[in-house]
Amino acid sequence: MSLFAIGDLHLHFQSELKAPSQLRERLWKNHEEKLRKNCEKLIKPEDTLVLVGDHSWGKDLDECEADFQYIRELPGRKLLTRGNHDMFWDAKKTKQLNDRFAPELTFLQDNYETYRDYALVATKGFTFEGPFYLDRYGRITGWDEEAEEHAKKLVDRELKRLRNAFESAKTDGYRKFIMFLHYPPTNILEERSEFTDMAEEYGAEQVVYAHCHGESRFHDSIEGEYRGRIYHLTSGDYLRWKPLNILD
Ligand SMILES: [Fe+2]
Ligand SMILES: [Fe+2]
Repeated sequence: MSLFAIGDLHLHFQSELKAPSQLRERLWKNHEEKLRKNCEKLIKPEDTLVLVGDHSWGKDLDECEADFQYIRELPGRKLLTRGNHDMFWDAKKTKQLNDRFAPELTFLQDNYETYRDYALVATKGFTFEGPFYLDRYGRITGWDEEAEEHAKKLVDRELKRLRNAFESAKTDGYRKFIMFLHYPPTNILEERSEFTDMAEEYGAEQVVYAHCHGESRFHDSIEGEYRGRIYHLTSGDYLRWKPLNILD
């Protein structure tokens, strides 16, 4: 039995939405096919696959139908976390999503799922992504402070959601955690954040995130060991569409 993760599938079987520049990069060519083949090689029916947000370009559930069908047909148990582009997913209506797609797909938000003796907790997270102001050498000299204020509010809301998930798992007796965010745990300026602090507070062994795709963004945040936890970037193009084995 194994636990895998990958994010930023950005499926668009039905959507005509403008694809990001990444969709023109070589790595993204037939990415659905590459991922499907890798999943079929790696993932057994008893395994769990966590999809770490930005599943679909569809603007509502109807426009995501073919994308969900693709996800359903991937092997293993599928858990989905919320990304910034998942327009079909109103955070307050996660229960309705779970009712509609059970038992094939599980949507993780303000709740938790288990894997062996671990609780898997997830939220979208948020990081301030600028705009940053640069000097002519490309060094950061400042940033948009109004946007930073707004970001703080979103961060607080996400931290509350994440704490709810940790606390309900703790109340149910879980002491081992894997934490999933869609956004990176820190912005490009920070070495730590309230998300890394929360991972430490609850003793999450691993922190899994996505959102940073396109080669220029692969090193925006923490990767590897940091203050006793292991951090993994799992955006699909970074992983070359091969889900990362998080736990056996
Ligand atoms: Fe994305
Ligand atoms: Fe994203």
